[in-house]
Amino acid sequence: MSKDTLTVTDNRTGKSYQIPIENDTIRALDLRQIKVNDDDFGMMSYDPAYQNTASCKSQITYIDGGKGILRYRGYPIEQLAEHSSYLEVAYLLIYGELPNQEQFDYWSNRVMRHTYIHESLTQLMRVFRYDAHPMGMLISSIAALSTFHAEAGNCLDDTIRQKQIWRILGKLPTMAAFAYRHRIGRPFNYPDSTMGYTANFLYMMDYMNERDYEINPVLAKALDVLFILHADHEQNCSTSTMRAIGSSRVDPYSALAGAAAALYGPLHGGANEAVLRMLNEIGDVKNIPAYVERVKKGEMRLMGFGHRVYKNYDPRATIIKKIAHQVFEVTGTNPLLDIALELERIALEDDYFVSRKLYPNVDFYSGIIYQAMRFPVDMFPVLFAIPRASGWLAQWSEMLVDPEQRIARPRQVYLGSEQRDYVPLEQR
Ligand code: CMC
Repeated sequence: MSKDTLTVTDNRTGKSYQIPIENDTIRALDLRQIKVNDDDFGMMSYDPAYQNTASCKSQITYIDGGKGILRYRGYPIEQLAEHSSYLEVAYLLIYGELPNQEQFDYWSNRVMRHTYIHESLTQLMRVFRYDAHPMGMLISSIAALSTFHAEAGNCLDDTIRQKQIWRILGKLPTMAAFAYRHRIGRPFNYPDSTMGYTANFLYMMDYMNERDYEINPVLAKALDVLFILHADHEQNCSTSTMRAIGSSRVDPYSALAGAAAALYGPLHGGANEAVLRMLNEIGDVKNIPAYVERVKKGEMRLMGFGHRVYKNYDPRATIIKKIAHQVFEVTGTNPLLDIALELERIALEDDYFVSRKLYPNVDFYSGIIYQAMRFPVDMFPVLFAIPRASGWLAQWSEMLVDPEQRIARPRQVYLGSEQRDYVPLEQR
């Protein structure tokens, strides 16, 4: 008997099965042979919310949640945050290697050349209601992009796929900035491709008619690092959505709109917005103990705490805490920081959080930085979506060329009614 197998005995029948183990996993389909009789469909695994199911093999992002490790293509997140740039990291995620100078020049040129959006899409963005949430505008505009690039449906063609990647990465900051400007009733600024990726985004959001307008390099750099930290996080809710929708072979704009919608939720990328609202609700350091008690009673969750994968301090939160100080030197400190630091201190000494391994995650401090940089709270999920697009695209591309992948289609355990006969309305 091979050592790399799992022996399963079905006590209903007394039969034993040898199931191969590969990469510490068994194939769920190997369970199908376990049957009580020939009519039996066969055993399935039941795993709501995929808590212990690997849905793919991937070479993109590695996380050790217990140790608090995050690596993109093998490179520690700490090194990338310190030495790299968001556009370089996007290249790394999508193509697997760091670019040389020539490759990087070509790549950034291609992305920055695709920053303009079609005027019809600009008009479409103008007709949202004056107070539309920018994330709603972004999601709809991403979906609308598919109507401008009909060839994108042919995503198995490598050349076509590459072009959509440049387009999406180029256009996302433009649509995000337009959503913001629409919200505050200011005219749209068209992209300036001579600027860096993050600086151009800040410019499109910020510029009015100042003669001596300049982007603050510390803020542009801080935002760039935040973009690096948010670029990918393996099979999270939105990335799994990107893969699932993309597995139907729909164009990447439609798939990415779905991924962005998944990100919008308060348990995922909407958490940084929820953290800010929570800190404002707490209002003062003296109110923290009572708030924590309410969390422990199950009245609400401590937003920005806990993670499906990290059962240790989220390494991105450590880096963000450091950036916060650089940003505050430019913007002045954010009073919510004191509440956040005290909340973290109290929570990390409390058995409720310690026993459940609930630590601050990436969203706990990012919102405080964004607010200090004067981003309105409802732009926070948008600031998450822009960089996460590179991760979504990397994972989508990997999925498309993976011969083991099929259209995503989970099974269910049906516990509903047996067959019954229709009863006419008047007899019910
Ligand atoms: N506050 C209070 N209790 C919590 C929290 C929290 N933030 N998170 C988990 N718990 C408790 C939960 O009540 C449960 O307790 P019990 O065992 O007594 O029922 C236990 O911890 C395990 O929770 P879970 O819901 O089974 O954990 P999960 O892996 O399904 O959820 C999570 C992960 C991130 C959705 C959750 O921790 C959460 O809701 N956190 C707050 C929202 C948040 O900050 N999300 C951002 C995640 S990081 C960025 C991203 O991925 O977008």
